[in-house]
Amino acid sequence: MSILVTGGAGFIGSNFVLHRLAVADEHVVTLDKLTYAGNLSNLAAAGNDSRLLFVRGDIGDTALVEGLLRRYRPRAVINFAAETHVDRSIRGPGDFIATNVAATHRLLEAVRAYWAGLNDADEAAFRFLHISTDEVFGALDPEAPPFTEDAPYAPNNPYAASKASADHMVRAYHHTYGLPTLTTNCSNNYGPFQFPEKLIPLAIHNARSGRPIPLYGDGSQTRDWLNVADHCAAVSRVLDGGTPGAVYNIGGKSEHTNLAVVETVCQILDEIAPRAGAKSHAELITFVTDRPGHDRRYAIDTARIEAELGWAPAVDFKTGLRSTIEWYLDNPDWIAAVTSGAYRTWIDRHYGGAV
Ligand code: NAD
Ligand code: DAU
Repeated sequence: MSILVTGGAGFIGSNFVLHRLAVADEHVVTLDKLTYAGNLSNLAAAGNDSRLLFVRGDIGDTALVEGLLRRYRPRAVINFAAETHVDRSIRGPGDFIATNVAATHRLLEAVRAYWAGLNDADEAAFRFLHISTDEVFGALDPEAPPFTEDAPYAPNNPYAASKASADHMVRAYHHTYGLPTLTTNCSNNYGPFQFPEKLIPLAIHNARSGRPIPLYGDGSQTRDWLNVADHCAAVSRVLDGGTPGAVYNIGGKSEHTNLAVVETVCQILDEIAPRAGAKSHAELITFVTDRPGHDRRYAIDTARIEAELGWAPAVDFKTGLRSTIEWYLDNPDWIAAVTSGAYRTWIDRHYGGAV
């Protein structure tokens, strides 16, 4: 038995590969292009586990994907591969269209051909699980109920629009061809191996380096934070028990403003890694120009996945944040390796010297 995990060297994908090797007895073929966001070292904890095979490549490379499907005959494909940073999509949507729309479509097409050639039992058991985001639903008003799976699509930035496009294509492949698809729409994740361009690891990294911690606008935007371990458990539940064609929303039931998140990061760092002179890390918080089209609030209604698959988030935000901060403190080599010259160029370009 094997599964094919795309984007398995990125933040959530690598956490999922390690989780899956721990909980299931199956081979995991990981396909990842190793963009700036993908790091093979994220999978180092698998050691010499012979059930893990890593292949560097693009989900849009049809010949490569067809060859992997033919050779390893996976019972499922789980697609984490994507361009994922909203700010990069605002500065240049091209890569987002190339991977999240066009390459995802080529992946679907290769998978459809493979699936159509399976015997009846394997065809029925096969799953294509597409990992998507709550950003496809757009922004919530402060008092509005959280997004259910029936919330209308209203993507507000190029990243969200590219993910929405892929979701629609996955839906169409189920309805038109009968491909047994599953789609998950998840809220903001945090945890080990998250690239330090995203809010929480950026705040930890800058606070530790004594650099300004950038907060967009007034810092009152709200996100629903989910520990990546909870997300991996949810994806496993959907893979193992989800109904083909269904969509499942996944969230942490843990809404916080960006300012509250960053202040909590600073409080925890003040406790476990105090600054010289007992100054608070919170002094580094710096309000910078807002993100264009910044969505004010996301929040997820998890009723469906709780009722159908018995999953609910288990990690308390403050506990999970503390262990995430400890992971970053314990892994300075990882941080050093990923914050290379290209990383500095992005930070300088995006924050224009304010950070
Ligand atoms: P990430 O940016 O950390 O990792 C993405 C991975 O995909 C990288 O390893 C990269 O090398 C790989 N990749 C990119 N383009 C590729 C291509 N064309 N072919 C093969 N590999 C390619 O992203 P993440 O935060 O781990 O997100 C994973 C998935 O989860 C994405 O689909 C994202 O939209 C979704 N998601 C993320 C979050 C979050 O908070 N991070 C929340 C909800 C949904
Ligand atoms: O909601 C799910 C989405 O969460 C995923 O689909 C995306 O892939 C993932 O990147 C994330 O998107 P966000 O835009 O919410 O995450 P980010 O960490 O970039 O920003 C979180 C919030 O913090 C957001 O309101 C913008 C704000 N922010 C972010 C950065 C990088 C700042 O205030 N300052 C910053 O420097």
